[in-house]
Amino acid sequence: MNIRLAVLAGARPNFMKVAPLIAALRADEDFRVILIHTGQHYDDTMSGQFMRDLQIPPPDYHLQVGSGSHAQQTAEIMRRLEPVLIEADVDGVVVVGDVNSTVAGALVAAKLGLPVIHAEAGLRSFDRSMPEEINRVVTDCLSDLLLVTEQSGHSNLLREGKQSGQIAMVGNLMVDSLTKNLPEAMRSDVRERLGINGRFGLVTLHRPANVDDGEKLAEIVSTLHIIAEEIPLYWPVHPRTRARLEAGRIAAPGFLHLLEPLGYLDFLCLQAKAAVILTDSGGIQEESTVLAVPCLTLRENTERPITIECGTNRLAGTSKESILNAWKEANASPRTGIIPPLWDGLAGLRCHEAIKRFFVGPRVS
Ligand code: UD1
Repeated sequence: MNIRLAVLAGARPNFMKVAPLIAALRADEDFRVILIHTGQHYDDTMSGQFMRDLQIPPPDYHLQVGSGSHAQQTAEIMRRLEPVLIEADVDGVVVVGDVNSTVAGALVAAKLGLPVIHAEAGLRSFDRSMPEEINRVVTDCLSDLLLVTEQSGHSNLLREGKQSGQIAMVGNLMVDSLTKNLPEAMRSDVRERLGINGRFGLVTLHRPANVDDGEKLAEIVSTLHIIAEEIPLYWPVHPRTRARLEAGRIAAPGFLHLLEPLGYLDFLCLQAKAAVILTDSGGIQEESTVLAVPCLTLRENTERPITIECGTNRLAGTSKESILNAWKEANASPRTGIIPPLWDGLAGLRCHEAIKRFFVGPRVS
């Protein structure tokens, strides 16, 4: 048997998902797997460092699309991907997560008549002002095999008309990367390098809704200042956010420490050691749940409800008042949480099984 699969990655949160997936598929000689990097993220701190930290082999193709508006970036990925998929003559395409590379890959594959496999399918924030929500809905609509991380994903897909035979609950690929790399991450000297002593909090912010509007960003930063008087906060700043802070001349002195983006291992080390994490990221809500570190999510909703039901996550909203309330609640009644079902480091193996079954077993459509 020779199943030729293209696995697509493009942006920072994709890399920790494709690493265990590629490893599991390439361990089976029935698969011939090619990795395609779209180049959606291109700074070394956003891509190369992650590929190295996660020991992802060099991509077979690099599309080098770079930044642009959503339409430009998505269209450019589609334009450059189509001839690659034709040349590579693949039997199917695997896309992960919810970034523009994900939806672009699903569109090109579906229009070439290739099966689309989506890892991290079914998550819904029910908020279409979020670009990722549109990417999720469209990708799932076009996908033939849907690999799901949590029960809500399964229910959402059934409600949207998918057949249960198309959906496999596989667990969480990010947790595979976390489990594998945590021992190495804990050996990182990042705290010494940054001069962190004692308790600290970790911040990340990059959602357009939080950072593109100067007033909103200023409100969040001034709220972080208040929290930083109680506990020093360290904030590796996404390039998008850095540009907005500079454009709005928003200063962050005092105990709110702005950093360059960190690599995977350094960031994982800080997550594991932090007393609290304040974030608007999707993946960090999941990682903090697995690490049992309290997480305040600076959003009004989450597509990952299991992190609230089982884990350490709380929705903190994005206003000064709501964030400070959540901070007080988190101090008054800390959540310990449990690790969600199948977030056990073996999702790559389950993905491999489900994908193999998809290609050798009877098809459900
Ligand atoms: C993207 C994803 C988001 C994910 C995030 C993680 C979409 C719609 N969004 O958002 O879901 O959580 O990645 O980081 O796909 N930039 C650089 N260097 C880079 C990449 C980006 O400087 O390597 C700057 C550019 O100014 C760019 C901006 O960041 O315009 C935004 O990058 P983009 O890929 O459009 O979206 P992200 O905000 O990174």
